[in-house]
Amino acid sequence: MLTQLAQAVYVVAAVLFILSLAGLSKQTSARRGVTLGMVGMALALVATIMLAADQSQRPVGVTISLIVVVLLIGAAVGAWRARSVEMTQMPELIAILHSFVGLAAVAVGFDSFLTERVHAGYGGSVHLVEVFLGVLIGAVTFTGSIVAFLKLSARMRSAPLTLPGRNWLNLGALVASAGLLVWFVVAPAQGLVALGVMTVIALLLGFHMVAAIGGGDMPVVVSMLNSYSGWAAAAAGFMLGNDLLIVTGALVGSSGAILSYIMCKAMNRSFVSVILGGFGSDGGAVAAGPAAEQGEHREILADGVADLLRGARSVVITPGYGMAVAKAQYPVAELVSRLRAAGVDVRFGVHPVAGRLPGHMNVLLAEAKVPYDIVLEMDEVNDDFERTDVVLVIGANDTVNPAALEDPSSPIAGMPVLEVWHAKQVIVFKRSMATGYAGVQNPLFFRENTHMLFGDAKDQVEKIVQAL
Ligand code: TAP
Repeated sequence: MLTQLAQAVYVVAAVLFILSLAGLSKQTSARRGVTLGMVGMALALVATIMLAADQSQRPVGVTISLIVVVLLIGAAVGAWRARSVEMTQMPELIAILHSFVGLAAVAVGFDSFLTERVHAGYGGSVHLVEVFLGVLIGAVTFTGSIVAFLKLSARMRSAPLTLPGRNWLNLGALVASAGLLVWFVVAPAQGLVALGVMTVIALLLGFHMVAAIGGGDMPVVVSMLNSYSGWAAAAAGFMLGNDLLIVTGALVGSSGAILSYIMCKAMNRSFVSVILGGFGSDGGAVAAGPAAEQGEHREILADGVADLLRGARSVVITPGYGMAVAKAQYPVAELVSRLRAAGVDVRFGVHPVAGRLPGHMNVLLAEAKVPYDIVLEMDEVNDDFERTDVVLVIGANDTVNPAALEDPSSPIAGMPVLEVWHAKQVIVFKRSMATGYAGVQNPLFFRENTHMLFGDAKDQVEKIVQAL
């Protein structure tokens, strides 16, 4: 009875998850999407506890108490981290959370194998394949996500690790795993050895795959690992015979894959090349030399920018990672409302990979109550720069780099960028002449119509607001 009720609740939760994803596709309905997802997850947890209580061989009270204790510990740690994390650290947090999903899939796989081993037949060949694939995907996701976490939090160099014959190494790991899978299914009595060896290979594969990807391509990696974690969860669902986990895992897996594809298109990268690594740029090496050869840069002060803005009819703001670091979104929103009140046409141009995670800038601007309808995507604003009087580049660098279009040898060559240099005046807010995330020098800073406004973006925007 309880089991049937739980299955019914699972169906409701699955529908809520799908509605949640639909809601998250637009900023205006995102809040509703999150709420639906939370309700779905609460229902899923209650139904899972009911199922566990119904099917457990232990006394019901013990099972429920055990689940509630771990749930409380997990919820306490999760709530603490979610409250304390900075917006700029969000990708790191997501990466480390993906690693937990991977680790869970590995644990479920081993548990499922060892439990079924006690019963005759090891659960059959299909079950063995599910266990093997679940552990494989889980282990790759686990170490891959840890490397992504280390790179994003600058605890590991963002430069790609380029071992000789790296593609062959990956291929070799996959071929060896396929051989071990055959052995595992044919001779499950020695299955633990095959499973153990494959786990070590998969852990190394996950490490190597993400270590080989350079800084500029990290956004795709985070979303790719998101997809992997979904497939790992779906595999765990198959092992446990849990339909909701299969549906949820498939939703996460496919939405992560679609997002990775969209991001690859936005950065003009082939998805396969990104996964195989070596495309991202070196965090330091490229950065060092060319700065001096690019010519002189011009500086401006906040008062000068205020004067320019007073005389402007159209202004476009292109925010980037630096706006997030400086938490400048609030004074920026204030500046925008003043300019709009004075009749200036102000819009935002947001690059798909501005910041450090998809939608980073949109979230910050929404937080500061900037109206959604003036926040445009790169493609919507790129043709308008020629008719724009002033562009304020606030803490963005790689996403406004003309070298992406003009220098085929640049590590970011081919990446679509915001073509801000077509505007009459460009003001770049940053603290120094340092490079951005991809470690590439930016010729924009040396153009005739560009002025640099040095200092913390928040302080500088506040000064401009005061001067206005
Ligand atoms: P970046 O190229 O990283 O440039 C950020 C700029 O902000 C730097 O030039 C930095 O210069 C400046 N800055 C930092 N702190 C500042 C502060 N307090 N005040 C003023 N300026 C400050 O940023 P972007 O243009 O947003 O490009 C994003 C990059 O990150 C791309 O390479 C992208 O591939 C990568 N990435 C994106 C994602 C996603 S999904 N969005 C995820 C991971 C990586 P100073 O140090 O001189 O101040």
